[in-house]
Amino acid sequence: MTAPVTDRSLLFRQPPGRVLVAPSILSADFGRLAEECASVIAGGADLLHVDVMDGHFVPNLSMGPAVCAAVRRHCPDTPIDVHLMVTDPDRFIEPFVEAGADHLTIHVETASDPAATARRIRELGRSPGLALNPETDLEVLLPHIEHFDLALVMSVHPGYSGQSFIPGVLEKVRGLRQRFGESIRIEADGGVSPETAPACREAGYDVLVSASSIFGSEDRAADIRAIRGA
Ligand code: DX5
Ligand code: ZN
Repeated sequence: MTAPVTDRSLLFRQPPGRVLVAPSILSADFGRLAEECASVIAGGADLLHVDVMDGHFVPNLSMGPAVCAAVRRHCPDTPIDVHLMVTDPDRFIEPFVEAGADHLTIHVETASDPAATARRIRELGRSPGLALNPETDLEVLLPHIEHFDLALVMSVHPGYSGQSFIPGVLEKVRGLRQRFGESIRIEADGGVSPETAPACREAGYDVLVSASSIFGSEDRAADIRAIRGA
C-alpha cells in the first residue's frame, strides 16, 4: 500500500520558526473526548498528540487505533501526531495510518531498523519521527535522524502524564540544533508548562507537547499561548 501525502502531514516539514503546541489527549476527560479535543483546538492547538502505550515498553496502557479514529472523525482538519511507546512499532504503523494519523513517532530503543520504518511511513504518505528516552544517549539517535522529519527528545520517563520536567535533556536539544540547524523539528514531551516552556524554546525545542498543564488549566487558550510564548 502506498498513498499520497496528506496536507496535514506536511506540518513538520514547513519551514520552522513558529513553535507548535500539541496537547496530549492523555490528560483529557475520555468520557467527553470530542469536546475536549474541540476545546484545545479552539484554544489554538496546532495538532493533537496521541500517546500509545503497550504495558511492555512502558509500564502503562493507554489507547489504540480506535481512539485515534474517533479523534480523526471529530477533528477532520487537525494534524494527529501518534507517539508509539510500544515494543514492536512496525506492527502498528498501518493500523494508525488507517485510523487517520498524519505523523508517527517511533522510539529508537525499540526500532529494529529505523530507516526502514521511516521509509514505510513516508510510503504511506505520512511523516516519521524518532524518539529517545531521557536515559538514552544522543549518539544512539544521530545515525538515524536524517531519515526523519522530527526528533522527540523525551523530557520525562515515558508512561504517565503529570511528571516533572527533566532539565538535563536540554543539552541533547542544543546538540541536535547545533548539528542539524533548522532542518528538523525537535519535540518536547513531558512536564511542559508555562513555567518550563521558556527553557524548552531557548534550547531549541519547536514542538511542545503538553497534557496535564493544558487539560488541567481553567483557561486552556491562555495556557497554550503561554507555552508557545507568543
Ligand atoms: C509521557 C507521554 C506524554 C505525556 C505528557 O509518557 O508521552 O505525552 O502525556 O504529559 P504531561 O504534559 O502531563 O507531562
Ligand atoms: Zn507523548
